Amino acid sequence: ESAADVPFTIVDRAGKAHAVTAKAGDNLMYFAHKLQAENPAIVIEGACEASLACSTCHVILSSQHFDVLDEPSEQEDDMLDMAPCLSATSRLSCQIVLKPELAGMTVSLPKFTRNFYVDGHVPEPH
Ligand code: FES
Repeated sequence: ESAADVPFTIVDRAGKAHAVTAKAGDNLMYFAHKLQAENPAIVIEGACEASLACSTCHVILSSQHFDVLDEPSEQEDDMLDMAPCLSATSRLSCQIVLKPELAGMTVSLPKFTRNFYVDGHVPEPH
């Protein structure tokens, strides 16, 4: 492992833990997308491609690592407010850039996510 490695754990929606190692600077959601090919249980949808217009990339972080991150933007908070399974340490994974201080964190995928565009709760612009 080099200093730029960020080892952490992803707990999938069925509760199974997966030890993974990212690089500092990786975006958490896109890193998870790369893992999915080898590990289909690690599914983070990311319906809006990181544009803060969905909450399908919702994850729940271990609290000491949640505290290491900068505060979420108001737009992220607004999206999180609509996310099922919201917790005090919820974040949108597309907004998280991995860094060495996050080594050892646990990223739990909530049991459910909701895509407001697909479910029709948010009208699509015409
Ligand atoms: Fe939609 Fe993160 S992918 S808010």
